[in-house]
Amino acid sequence: MTATPASTVLDRVLVLEMVRVTEAAAIGASTLIGRGDEKAADHAAVEAMRAALNELYMDGTVVIGEGERDEAPMLFIGEKVGAAQGKGPKIDIALDPLEGTTICAKAGPNSLAVLAVAEEGNLLNAPDVYMDKLAVGPGYPEGIIDLAKSPTENVKAVAAAKGVAPDEIIVCVLDRPRHADLIAELRGLGCGIQLIPDGDVAGVIAVTNPDTTIDMYMGQGGAPEGVLAAAALRCVGGQFNGRLVFRNDDEKARARKWGIADLNKIYALEELAKGDCIFAATGVTDGSLLDGVKRRADGTLTTHTVVMRASSGTVRWVRGEHRRSR
Ligand code: FBP
Repeated sequence: MTATPASTVLDRVLVLEMVRVTEAAAIGASTLIGRGDEKAADHAAVEAMRAALNELYMDGTVVIGEGERDEAPMLFIGEKVGAAQGKGPKIDIALDPLEGTTICAKAGPNSLAVLAVAEEGNLLNAPDVYMDKLAVGPGYPEGIIDLAKSPTENVKAVAAAKGVAPDEIIVCVLDRPRHADLIAELRGLGCGIQLIPDGDVAGVIAVTNPDTTIDMYMGQGGAPEGVLAAAALRCVGGQFNGRLVFRNDDEKARARKWGIADLNKIYALEELAKGDCIFAATGVTDGSLLDGVKRRADGTLTTHTVVMRASSGTVRWVRGEHRRSR
């Protein structure tokens, strides 16, 4: 990984402040884990994250959020957040207060409260469309994966670099009918496929953690989630390619509105999250990356958060114990 200079705008203090923000969102959603109400869980996470962001000394702008202004009353794209508008550091924020709303509603694994922050203009303003995603963990030669090539070619390249046969490669894929051809092609190679029901931010990050045994991530998921996952990989290493997928003219128009001229572009990591950035995630439910929020008999809530910064490459795992007023 090439060294990233530290941003003078992203204060070091902000790294730890971000922990509070994702913790607040995860705690907000936690009372709704397994309650079958996706909307209520999302709403609780959004409210809590927004309140926590508004306490911070910054002039923040949501660049990836809950939707466009007319469809999302809180944390919409373009919303200003932070307690120092016009005077604090100008920061762009990509956020997903509850990534994996269905997982949370069903108490499944890997729902997260997640955000990434960077200097103004450094995060791709991705419209809420799908993105073709291809990721591999750290330690491979630069350019080992290429979305312009077939899944077979990519698996073979990674297998050769790892020194194993293609049938030893494990690929994580969202379990969706649209991935039938991809899954068939990977099965043809004999790959192991970890099918996940939802939550591809955690799915992509899983390629960076040898404990998961996942080598690659492939398939279509949300473009906003792609930018969030890219920010995480900027901090811990790994490679990522993303290409926006448009299902109709309305989606193309949305992309153009956000300044995207080349609709077929394949984005590399640094084109999704440039320069220095901070990524933070708190587990809502237990998962491969993080433990979920737990409530002890005495009312104490425990949280598990990871926060990382691209310029330093520091990854901090934070265990929180939150005692309400006794
Ligand atoms: P939500 O938190 O918005 O429900 O997103 C969950 C998720 O699984 C993402 O991780 C993924 O990128 C996207 O949905 C995939 O979209 P779809 O469910 O339409 O296949």
